[in-house]
Amino acid sequence: MKAQIIDGKSIAARVREEVREEVAALEPRDRPPGLAVILVGDDPASQVYVRSKGKACEEAGIHSITETLPASVSESQLLERIAQLNRDETFHGILVQLPLPKHINTETIIESITPEKDVDCFHPFNVGRLAMGAPIFEPATPAGIMELLKRQNISPVGKHAVIVGRSNIVGKPLANLLMQKHPHANAVVTVAHSAVGDISRFTRQADILVAAIGQPELIRGDMVKEGAVVIDVGVNRVEAPNPKGYRLVGDVAFEEAAEKAGYITPVPGGVGPMTIAMLLKNTMKAYRLQMG
Ligand code: GUN
Repeated sequence: MKAQIIDGKSIAARVREEVREEVAALEPRDRPPGLAVILVGDDPASQVYVRSKGKACEEAGIHSITETLPASVSESQLLERIAQLNRDETFHGILVQLPLPKHINTETIIESITPEKDVDCFHPFNVGRLAMGAPIFEPATPAGIMELLKRQNISPVGKHAVIVGRSNIVGKPLANLLMQKHPHANAVVTVAHSAVGDISRFTRQADILVAAIGQPELIRGDMVKEGAVVIDVGVNRVEAPNPKGYRLVGDVAFEEAAEKAGYITPVPGGVGPMTIAMLLKNTMKAYRLQMG
């Protein structure tokens, strides 16, 4: 293997430790930062993510609750609970885990969270601020990718970043972050997606290649430019003959891509841990905004 591994797990541990120190340095008489997480239904992957978020909060000294609501909960019941949390001063961040059941309108729910508690940065107000280059929050996964690059001393300035995938959670906001006129951004950005027949004509031009399309091992070795930085956002469960019955693979065929790339993130242990670390940072930011 040629590529250097970007160790998201240890970088995320450092970020989490920094947040823990920041929380520990708060005045004891002030209430601690608080995060409310709502999970609707029993999607196994979402359950894992939500549990990890709760555990990370606890370790950092952030007060957190996780409310699990049945998949049958009505949209108006969910809206009522969010309205209560919007008013509740013990919670500075509110996160509704996605995806939501089909009968609930995701946009309606996202827009019901007050923007100053929107630690996911999914509310149109916060998305707009980000697009204008004046973000209040940055969404956790794209922010985690920017942080990985920064802490690995990889400068995106003037580089061609190709993002495969245009989701609201990763592709679009990451494009905004990478193109910002900022000393740790300033890249030239291409967003490729499922409407392109042969995405390799784009991926092969990438100095920084980000795969966030949710297709197991879509990016093969021959689609990667020599020396590129490969960031794999995919977390796909594929059948495997082990006790769990599955294993996790990214959107990148790791072994092949690692023969070409200069740097590469593993799955698991790359981008995933950063998402949680950046959520903690956003919760601290929300706390500071609300506490003045
Ligand atoms: N589902 C997958 N990623 C995320 C995330 O970052 N936030 C929320 N709320 N749901 C998700």
